[in-house]
Parts: sequence; structure tokens; C-alpha cells
Amino acid sequence: MKLFKEINSIHQFLASEKRENKQIGFVPTMGALHNGHLSLIKKSKAENELTVCSIFINPTQFNNKEDLEKYPRTIENDIKLLIESGCDVLFHPEVNEIYTENETPQTGNYGNLTHVLEGKFRPGHFDGVITIVKKLFHIVEPDNVYFGQKDFQQCAVINEMIVRNHFKLKMNICNTMREIDGLAMSSRNIRLTKDERIAAKAIPSTLHYIKNNIEKVSITEVLQTATKQLLSSSDLIKIEYLEIVNAITLEQMDQFDIETPAVALIAAYCGNVRLIDNIILTD
Ligand code: PAJ
Repeated sequence: MKLFKEINSIHQFLASEKRENKQIGFVPTMGALHNGHLSLIKKSKAENELTVCSIFINPTQFNNKEDLEKYPRTIENDIKLLIESGCDVLFHPEVNEIYTENETPQTGNYGNLTHVLEGKFRPGHFDGVITIVKKLFHIVEPDNVYFGQKDFQQCAVINEMIVRNHFKLKMNICNTMREIDGLAMSSRNIRLTKDERIAAKAIPSTLHYIKNNIEKVSITEVLQTATKQLLSSSDLIKIEYLEIVNAITLEQMDQFDIETPAVALIAAYCGNVRLIDNIILTD
């Protein structure tokens, strides 16, 4: 695997690969890699001649300084996992390679997409995500990009960013990889204590409860019962949001009908660790 830390050198390398008409797949990450990330690498490898992964803990998408400081950094192990999975290129820049001093993200207005759910609880988060993903797309100029459904709203926002910026690439949204008990794999899971880890499995169970009951009762009722069940499952869990929204516009829905794509999304603290998950209700 080739490792690049500088924009010019990766750009030059990829330019020569492109002259040979190689199709490039790209998987952006913030490292602390787990099988969820590796499933994206695997998909990219199956569909492209060259797979590029980036590892960059993007400071502008963290609205909470402590969360940025505590974000797991496991670069040596990440490199080992990427080599094992057959990734061809790793881009792992320093912050000053990507941002000029005091640069603030400028993204324009994405309306509802960036203001609801994660956007409401993590102000500025998506400005940071849009900014870094756009920079990375310009550096790598991939044919295919791979993102996880685990970050459902991030996928919706990036889809819109791709359209607005006329990027000629294909967005591939991949299934959420889960632990045996259903908990979505996440770099943050290693920060859970033993008790918190046990409690966290109630999060995916709650989403399944919603999916199994959405056609039987009203949206308000299913959300009320699901919330009550989740909170009573453990004192360690605090819900930030639990909502059912239109899967395209992310607008809240008053009524469920099988014709309108819908998704249930949750953000909850398990102890001090903030976890997110979602389930598509209409597939
Ligand atoms: P990160 O959280 O490292 O995730 C990188 C990619 O892996 C994202 O597309 C995410 O949705 C996907 N992913 C995470 N957990 C997954 C799981 N359990 N199953 C499948 N895919 C999973 O998302 C980011 O980084 C950043 O916001 C980034 C896009 C890199 C911009 O900084």
C-alpha cells in the first residue's frame, strides 16, 4: 500500500494511474478502523481497479472540543488493517496540509438537510463534513465513493453536495455493519465501559421495535412507546433525538405510508459516549 501525506504527491500519483484509465474507488474515514470501514474498502476493491482510503480526523466537524480530543487514534493498527484488506493507497495528511490557518468552513445553505437531527444537536457539524469531503473529492477525483448508511444524514447531505458541485462520481451507500447483538460498529464503541456496552444494544432493538410496529399504530404512539422502552432498559441511556422522517427530505412525517420512503433515526448517549443509528422503514 502506498502512503501519502501531501496533496501534491497523491495528486501526481493518481494522475498517472488515471492516464492508464484505472477506475478509482474512494473511502474517506477518520481512522480507528473497524469492520464497518473495511466493508467499504472491500466493496470498493470489488468494483474498482484502485482503492484509495483517507484517514483524517477532521477538526472542523467536531463541535465539541472534548469529543475531538477523545477521538480514538490508532494509525498503526489502521495501516495494518488496510494492508490486510488490500487497500492500494492511503492518504493521511496533517491538519495544516488541508486547512490554512483560521480557515472556517464555507458551504452555503443546505436548508433542512443540515439543520435537523444531527445538525440541530451538533451545530456546524455538517459545514465541516461538507468542507472536508469536497476537498478530498477534489484531491482524489474518484469515479466511485463509498459511504456507510450508519451515517444516514451524512449520506443525504453529501448526495446534495455532489449534485451542487457537479462532481462526476457515483455515490455508493453501504449497509451498516453490526456486532453480534445488533450494535452498529463505530469507532466510539471502544470508549464504552462493560456496562455501557451491554446497555447500548437496546438502541438497535428500539429501531427494530419501531420497524415492526410502524404499520400497526400512529407515528406518535410508536415513538412514545419506543422511547419509554429504551429509557427503562437502562439508566445509562439518554436520548438526544428519536425521529421518523422522510428518507429523502429528512422532514418529519405525521403519518406513515409504505409509498413514502421513511427512516427512523436515533442519537443517544450511553454514559458519556454519543451513539447514532438508523433503520429504513420502507424496504
Ligand atoms: P468515519 O466515522 O470514520 O466513517 C467513515 C465511513 O465509514 C463513513 O461513510 C461511515 O458511514 C462508514 N461507517 C461507519 N460505521 C460503519 C458501519 N458500522 N457500517 C458501515 N459503514 C460504517 O464519517 C466519517 O468518518 C467522516 O464524517 C468523514 C466522511 C470521513 C468526513 O470527515
